[in-house]
Amino acid sequence: MHIQTDRTVIEVLGSDGTELMLNYYIENREHLAPWEPTRSEEYFTLSNFSEMLHDNKKSFQDKTALKFSALNPERNEVIAVCNFTNIVFGPFQACNLGYSIAEKHQGKGLMSEVLSSTIAYVFEELNLHRIMANYIPENVKSSAVLERLGFEREGLAKSYLQIAGQWQDHILTSKLNPKHLAPNK
Ligand SMILES: CC(C)(COP(=O)(O)OP(=O)(O)OC[C@H]1O[C@@H](n2cnc3c(N)ncnc32)[C@H](O)[C@@H]1OP(=O)(O)O)[C@@H](O)C(=O)NCCC(=O)NCCS
Repeated sequence: MHIQTDRTVIEVLGSDGTELMLNYYIENREHLAPWEPTRSEEYFTLSNFSEMLHDNKKSFQDKTALKFSALNPERNEVIAVCNFTNIVFGPFQACNLGYSIAEKHQGKGLMSEVLSSTIAYVFEELNLHRIMANYIPENVKSSAVLERLGFEREGLAKSYLQIAGQWQDHILTSKLNPKHLAPNK
């Protein structure tokens, strides 16, 4: 399975993508550090990434988590990642969204391009009702991406996630499946 966008190819990488994914996280270690949990040295190893990617294809098939990687057209570099996790069906039909893009590809509209395609896929193929995305108030770039994609602010959760070694407040936002909204809303 893959999703073609204007400038990327989006895939679910399994263990076969270990090296590409490790390169992405090593190259962007400093860029991502303020916005992710603190990583130990063991995090940046082939064995760790091989383990983390091992179940990606099964999770995709089982619809428990969609962990997408956006590759360059030559498919030899990870440009960005976006993960739709904690997928729940039943009356909630919702999931969480997390994402990042390589520092060298920031500011080109690529993250928005990748997210709009993957969000459309999630709404169309899984028929989820709500995608939730949360960010630290200082993360202005993340706030701008979400606003561009039509996420709406729903609140502020105090001390919500442990990021960069600190429990940090997060702005809560979500986007609803347009198919589920009445035409006059
Ligand atoms: C948050 C993050 C993904 C935003 O990436 P981004 O590249 O700014 O996002 P977009 O793809 O929407 O690009 C928007 C920028 O590209 C510019 N742009 C250039 N060409 C464009 C095009 N063809 N289409 C749209 N925008 C374009 C826009 O003007 C905008 O620039 P600006 O930031 O100067 O206003 C990125 O900063 C990141 O990975 N940060 C670290 C990890 C992180 O914070 N993750 C989120 C945690 S909640």
